Amino acid sequence: MTFYVTTPIYYVNSSPHLGHAYTTIAADVMTRFQRLVGTEAFYLTGTDEHGSKIAEAAEAAGEDPQAFTDRISQRFRDLLPLLDVENDFFIRTTDAPHKAFVQQVAQRMYDKGDIYKDTYSGWYCTACERYYNDGELLEGNACPIHKRPVEHMEETNWFFRLSAYKERLIAHFDANPEWIVPRAKFNEARGLIDQLEDLSISRSSITWGVDVPWDDSQVFYVWIDALFNYASALTYAVEGEDLSAKFWPPTVQVLAKDILKFHSVYWPAFLMSADLALPEQLFIHGYLTVGGDKMGKSMGNALDPFPIIEQHGPDPLRFYVLREVQFGSDGAVSQEGFERRYDTELANDLGNLVSRSASMLVKYLGVDGVAKVPAVPADSAVRASAEATIATWRAQMTELDLSGALETVWVFVRELNKHVEDRAPWALAKDEANAELLATTLGELAEGIVTVAHALSPVMPSTSVKVAAMIGVDAGALQQWSWGIAEGRDVTKPSPLFPRLETAKA
Ligand code: MSP
Repeated sequence: MTFYVTTPIYYVNSSPHLGHAYTTIAADVMTRFQRLVGTEAFYLTGTDEHGSKIAEAAEAAGEDPQAFTDRISQRFRDLLPLLDVENDFFIRTTDAPHKAFVQQVAQRMYDKGDIYKDTYSGWYCTACERYYNDGELLEGNACPIHKRPVEHMEETNWFFRLSAYKERLIAHFDANPEWIVPRAKFNEARGLIDQLEDLSISRSSITWGVDVPWDDSQVFYVWIDALFNYASALTYAVEGEDLSAKFWPPTVQVLAKDILKFHSVYWPAFLMSADLALPEQLFIHGYLTVGGDKMGKSMGNALDPFPIIEQHGPDPLRFYVLREVQFGSDGAVSQEGFERRYDTELANDLGNLVSRSASMLVKYLGVDGVAKVPAVPADSAVRASAEATIATWRAQMTELDLSGALETVWVFVRELNKHVEDRAPWALAKDEANAELLATTLGELAEGIVTVAHALSPVMPSTSVKVAAMIGVDAGALQQWSWGIAEGRDVTKPSPLFPRLETAKA
C-alpha cells in the first residue's frame, strides 16, 4: 500500500499567505503520519503559472511572465522549509515535461472525440478564470466571489464534452459515498452534476499557456492544464523514473471549497476521458477566516506567518492552525488566538508537564544529576490510558481528523498533569515508605510524555524530538511507539521548551 497526497497548486499572481500554508501544513501532517506507520508516501505541491490572471499580474508588475512566475513561484518554494514541510516534489506548470504531458493527454481526449470546436459568449471573471451565467451574477454584473464586474466575452474555442460524462459521474458518486469528505461537501458536489454544460477548454485571447497541439491559434484553459499536474508530476519528479505505476491515483487530494467544482466535477470527467484512474478521496477543508472573511491576498497579513516562524520556529504555528480550526470547517485565526494557545497549551500544559516531570526525576531519583527512568507495573492506569490514546489518535489520523487527533493527545496531556497533582511526588518524596509509588509515578510520567511526543510528531516534528530527548529517548526510538520505551533511559535537567510569551514580552 502507498499513500499519495496533493495540495492545490497555488496561483503565482500573489505571494503565499497563511491560507496556502494551512493546506500545505495539513498535507505534510498526513504524509508524516503515513510514514510513521510505515506506509510509503509521496507528497506533491507546487505552483499554477498559466492563464490570463497570471499574465495580467506579470504585466502589472512590468515583468515578462516567465521571469515573474519564476520569482513568485520561488517564494512558495522558500516557504516549505520554513514550515518544516517535507514534500517530495514541487511542480510548476511551466515545467517543460508538464506541458508535454498536458498536450499528450488532451490529444488523447481529442482523438476520442471528447473535444470539439464551438463559439461561446458569456460573462467571464478573470480572477476566477471562468464564465458565469446571467443568473449567477450580482447586481451590476459583478462576480459573486470577487464582487467586481465581469467581462462579456465571445470566443471560438475548443470544448470538452463534459455533459457526456454525466451518467458516469453520477455512478461514481453513488458508488463512492466517501470519495469527497466532509459529507456536506460531497452533497454540494453531487448537486453540481445536475446542471452540466460542456466546458470551454481553450482560449484564443491569450498566449500565456500550453499550446493546443492541433490548433496553434489557441492555448489551453488554465484549469485543464493545472489539474493534470497531479498526474504529470509523477512522470518526471524523479529523473529517469515514472512513479505513476507506484502512486497513481492519489490517495487524498487536499483543497478548500473555493475550488470544489473543478476538482469534484471537471477533474473526474477529464480523468475518465483520459482513461486514468480517479483519486480515491478529496478532502475539502474550511477557510481560515479573519474578521469573518476568508483570509486572502489582501488580508494575508492579518496573521503573518513569517514573524511567528522567526520567533518560534514552525511547530507552534503548525500546531495552532490545526488546533484552532476544526479540520474540515471554517475558523477564525488571529495573533491573539495564537498567543493564547501558545501560552495555555504549549507553554503551560505541555511545557510544564515535561519540565516538571524531568526535574522531579532528576531531583528525586538522580545520582550526580542523572536519573534512570524507572519501570512501571503492568497494571498502571496511565498505561491503559496511553494505549487507548494511541489507538484513538491513530484511527483519527487515518480518517484525516487532524484536529480530533490533536484533541485526543491534549486530553491525555491534561490527564498527565492531573496525575502529577493527584500523586504529588514532592509529598511522596518526604517519606521513604512511598519510594515505590514515587518511582512508579515518575516512570508513568516519563512513558506518558514519550507517548505524547510520538503522537505529536506529525504536527510538531522538532518539538517531539526535543520532548523525547528530555526523557532520554532518541528520534529513532520515537518512531515505533510502545509502552516501556522510556524505561532505563537517562534523564538530566531539562531545558525550557516553550518560553512563555508574557515573560518574553516583559
Ligand atoms: N491554482 C488554483 C488551484 C489549481 S489546483 C489544480 C488555485 N490557486 S490558489 O492560489 O487560489 O489556491 C487556492 C487554495 O489555497 C485553496 O483551495 C486552499 O487550499 C488554499 N487557501 C487559500 N486561502 C485559504 C484560506 N483563507 N483558508 C483555507 N485555505 C486557503 O485555486
